[in-house]
Amino acid sequence: MLLRLALAAGSAATCHAAVDREGPTYHREVAPILADNCVECHKDGGIGPFPLTTYDEVAPRAASIAAVTGERSMPPFNLDNSGACNTYVDARWLAEDDIATLAAWAQSGAPAGESASAPPEPPEPWRLDRVDLTLAMPEPYTPDEALDDIYRCFILDPQLAEDAFAVAFEIRLGQPEMVHHLTLYALDYAEDEADAAALDEADPGPGYTCFGDPLVPSRWLVGAGPSDRGRELPAGTGLRMGAGRKTVLQMHYNRVHGTFPDQTAVDLRLAASVPHEAYIKRVEDVVLELPPGESAVVETGTRELHEDFTLWGVWPHMHGLGRQMRVTATGPSDEACLAQVDDYHFHWQQFAFYEQPRPVRAGTTLRIDCTYDTTSRDATTTWGYGTDDEMCIGFFYVTEGLVGAGK
Ligand code: HEC
Repeated sequence: MLLRLALAAGSAATCHAAVDREGPTYHREVAPILADNCVECHKDGGIGPFPLTTYDEVAPRAASIAAVTGERSMPPFNLDNSGACNTYVDARWLAEDDIATLAAWAQSGAPAGESASAPPEPPEPWRLDRVDLTLAMPEPYTPDEALDDIYRCFILDPQLAEDAFAVAFEIRLGQPEMVHHLTLYALDYAEDEADAAALDEADPGPGYTCFGDPLVPSRWLVGAGPSDRGRELPAGTGLRMGAGRKTVLQMHYNRVHGTFPDQTAVDLRLAASVPHEAYIKRVEDVVLELPPGESAVVETGTRELHEDFTLWGVWPHMHGLGRQMRVTATGPSDEACLAQVDDYHFHWQQFAFYEQPRPVRAGTTLRIDCTYDTTSRDATTTWGYGTDDEMCIGFFYVTEGLVGAGK
């Protein structure tokens, strides 16, 4: 009825233009949101399953784009960044307004609108300004065709004459479409290096198979997903790399796009010293026992701190059954939320650094509550390194003392 009135009053073309101006269009609102938040992965050769760079690619997917952004499964990020718990540096997280825009656009039939003179460019990837050390796989490695997910560890020797601190890193992936993520670990003791060497020796081909971690005691140095080019560690902090000590580069390969030889390298910027040496502290529950057939089994780990610390970042870690995790700090009179994971995906775990580092005082108890869905299992699941085992760990990037707390 309204439409007929409008037609009677003027031309159909005017009426159409008015509708366009009211609702979002691809060229005006949608393309810039996708360029900023999606195209780093959803482009030709990217890790996303399809490109989202032109109207013809995006319009048929309008409804699923609205759905995945509405439930916040895309862009992928494990932690809640809404501010209800914390906000993180470089979080992959859409603003509520952008989610509403994508939903409104899908609902109104995904109009193209007037094409912009220059389509929006995704942001330039970050680059390392100075390379002091390169740790590279010594030879290409081709993953086993029989497995979809491969974890392979390579022992690399930084040949440092003196202790140094890693303060920034850049990743140079050999085969971006095949690398799921990588982690570089420091080995601090000769016996751990010997154990890693024995694992390498016992496994044919370059490196050794290592699910979850390097299978020897080790310390986190660098972690990156397939679309991370690299980053700075929090300003004023760095992670020690010991003179003469070795490192282990763990590659997680996923062969959904095919199998290729990979030779990845990590470039590091080092500092001879840093104002605040960072450590990785962990809170864990290693005695976990998860009965089968339950949709929500909760395990809890706690650790009381006996000194003052500053928390710069957090990495919630579980395996494939993990669904939620809550990380809190309980003081004498209060409880603070340190991380909230509502929809855990093993594939998207990473260190997330707080936008504001958090001082925690001696006497505070760090607590993690890990929730698992065991409906897919018919036997009890216990702690372990294997794909089918589970873990419940909160890793914390910390420095000693209360940095920036003003006291
Ligand atoms: C860090 C890389 C990355 C970013 C950023 C990213 N995606 Fe994805 N996306 C993927 C990968 C990988 C998959 C396939 C595996 C999966 O679903 O986890 C995927 C799957 C999808 C799917 C299909 C989901 C399904 O259930 O079939 C849609 C739709 C999608 N992404 C939309 C988006 C949108 C919209 C954005 C931006 C708001 C975005 N993605 C940002 C990597 C990414």
